[in-house]
Amino acid sequence: MSQSLATVAYLGAAILFILSLSGLSNPETSRRGNLFGMIGMALAVLATVFGPSVSSSGIAWIVIALVVGGGIGLYAAKVVKMTQMPELVALMHSLVGLAACIVGFASYIDPTMKYEGAEKIIHEVEIYIGILIGAVTFSGSLIAFGKLAGRIGGKPLLLPARHWLNLIALLVVIWFGREFLAAPDVNAGMLPLIVMTVIALLFGIHMVMAIGGADMPVVVSMLNSYSGWAAAATGFMLSNDLLIVTGALVGSSGAILSYIMCTAMNRNFISVIAGGFGSGSGTPAKKSDTAEPQGEVVPVSAAETSEMLRDAKSVIIVPGYGMAVAQAQHTVYEITKTLREKGVDVRFAIHPVAGRMPGHMNVLLAEAKVPYDIVMEMDEINEDFPDTDVAIVIGANDIVNPSAAEDPTSPIAGMPVLEVWKAKTSIVMKRSMASGYAGVDNPLFYKENNRMLFGDAKKMLDEVLVSLKG
Ligand code: TAP
Repeated sequence: MSQSLATVAYLGAAILFILSLSGLSNPETSRRGNLFGMIGMALAVLATVFGPSVSSSGIAWIVIALVVGGGIGLYAAKVVKMTQMPELVALMHSLVGLAACIVGFASYIDPTMKYEGAEKIIHEVEIYIGILIGAVTFSGSLIAFGKLAGRIGGKPLLLPARHWLNLIALLVVIWFGREFLAAPDVNAGMLPLIVMTVIALLFGIHMVMAIGGADMPVVVSMLNSYSGWAAAATGFMLSNDLLIVTGALVGSSGAILSYIMCTAMNRNFISVIAGGFGSGSGTPAKKSDTAEPQGEVVPVSAAETSEMLRDAKSVIIVPGYGMAVAQAQHTVYEITKTLREKGVDVRFAIHPVAGRMPGHMNVLLAEAKVPYDIVMEMDEINEDFPDTDVAIVIGANDIVNPSAAEDPTSPIAGMPVLEVWKAKTSIVMKRSMASGYAGVDNPLFYKENNRMLFGDAKKMLDEVLVSLKG
C-alpha cells in the first residue's frame, strides 16, 4: 500500500472514530456509533499492517500477535460479566500503558532512529514523556483493577506527607529528564530513563492506593484518559498520525467523562487525584451512634408492592447496581409494560453513577427494550418526585441516600442524589440492610413513607409481576 493510500485510510479511520464517539453519546445511536468504531479500527489495522512502515517479513509476526491478542480479547469479552466490566477496562488500560513503555524503550535503543540537533531532543522528550505517562497508567491501572476486583482493600492508603512525596518524585523526574537529554549516547541515557520509569511506576501505585473505594469510578475514567495520552505519546514516537489523533480523542473524552463524574459525585477533580476521599467498599452498614438512621423499617411483601403500583397514577423506577447483579431488567420491563397498559405513568430515573460504570443502567434497560423516551436523566426528573405516587428503588443505595444532601459529615456529602423520599411512597428493593458501594448507612430505609421489599431483585420482581397480572 502506498503512503498516500495509507494516509487516506488513516483519515477515514479518524473520521469514523469521531462519528463513533458522537454516536456513543446517545443510547438511540450507540449501536451505530459502535459499528463506526469497529469499521474505523479495522481500517486502521489494515492500513497499518499493509502500509509502507511494515516490511513483508514482519507481517507474519503481526498476524500471530493479532490472533493471540484477538483470541484473548474475544474470550474475555465472552466470559466477563457486565458487573465486572470496570475491572476489565482497568486491566486493558494497563496494557496500553505497558505498550507505551515498551515502544518508548524500543524506539530509544532502535539503531535505525538517527536524529540530530533539535529533532533528537524532540524525539527524546517524546520518549521520556511517553514512558512516564505509560508507566503511571500501567501501575495505576493494575492497582485500580485490584481494588475493583476486591483483591486490594477499598480503604485509601494515606502515607504521611504524601503530597510532599509526590512533589519530590516530580522534581526527581524532572532532574533525571535533564540528565537523560544531556546523555551523549544510549548507554548513558538508559540509567536516568530506568530510574524515571521506576519512580513513575511507584507514583502510579501510590496515586491509586490513596483513593478511596467511593471515588474509584472517577479514577478508572481518569486512567482511561491517561491511556489515551500514553497512546498519543506512542504515536509521536512512531510518527503515526492516526495513533496521535486516536490517543487525543481517548485522552480528551476520558478527561471530560472524569469531569462529568466528579460533578455527579460532587467531587473536586484535583482532590480526587490528590487522594484520600471515600471509604471502604461494599461493607455492611455500620450501626453508628452519631448517624441519624436509627429507627424502624417497614417491610412489605411482593403482593403489597404490586397493589401499591396498581393503585398509583405515577411511578418512577430507580435502578441501581442490584438490578444489574440480579439481571432483573427484563422483568422490570414486563412490569413497566403491564403498568402502562393499566394507564399508570411509568418513568425511569437514571443517576449518572448508578451501577458500576458510566451508562450501566442505560445499557441494561436498552437490552430489555425499555423505550428511550421514558428513561430520564437525574436532572430531568429529580423535581418530579413530590408529584409521584410510588418511587421504586431496585437494588440502588448510594444514589438515593438522603444523607448526601442532609448530613455534611457523610463521606458522600454533597453528591447529588435522586430524591425518592419526596415521593408519596418509596419502596426499596434489596436483600438486606447492607450498605452500598460507598459503605455508608442509608437513612432512607427508616423514613416514615418508605417500605422495604427484601429479597433478590429478580425473584421479588417476578412475584410482583405475577401478582400484577393476577
Ligand atoms: P450501591 O450503592 O452499590 O447499592 C447497590 C445495592 O444493591 C446494595 O446495597 C445491595 O444491597 C443491592 N443488591 C445487590 N445485589 C442485589 C440483588 N441480587 N438483588 C437486590 N438487591 C441487590 O449501588 P448504586 O446505588 O447503583 O450506586 C452506585 C455506587 O457505585 C455509587 O457509590 C458509585 O459511586 C459507585 N460506582 C459507580 C460506578 C459508575 S461509573 N457507575 C463505578 C464504580 C463505583 P443488599 O446487599 O442488601 O442486597
